[in-house]
Amino acid sequence: MTKPDEALVAAARAARAHAWAPFSSFAVGAALRHRDGRLFTGCNVENATYGLTICAERVAVFKAISEGARPGEFTAVCVVADTEQPTPPCGACRQILWEFCGDVPVVLATPAEVKAVFEMRDLLPSPFDARFLGR
Ligand code: THU
Repeated sequence: MTKPDEALVAAARAARAHAWAPFSSFAVGAALRHRDGRLFTGCNVENATYGLTICAERVAVFKAISEGARPGEFTAVCVVADTEQPTPPCGACRQILWEFCGDVPVVLATPAEVKAVFEMRDLLPSPFDARFLGR
């Protein structure tokens, strides 16, 4: 494993503290490293319908975009949950991470340690994306 970006991991851990997860009690934090050095963070936000829940990863991406970052400008992602096995992004988040971040490293950590680092191309093989729309 290459040396993890400690500030990225710390940002995802801090974001996790803001998780709103009264239904699952499963708090997740995420952080994105922008190529200009900025960090964008997110936590999961649940609601009473369950289905409108949004994961920490997508909150981080959408926050970043809403603050002016553009697709392809991110260099790494970190996801933090308190699990024995590393918690990988769900399928919906893999799609969004692929489209907005591309083939970046995804650091999977807990509050105590970095568990694994995956590459997006391995998390989402044969992806659908804007290329198929001719964009
Ligand atoms: N969750 C995330 O925020 N990210 C993941 O990578 C996996 C799942 C959230 C969604 C829901 O609020 C809770 O964790 C349980 O699935």
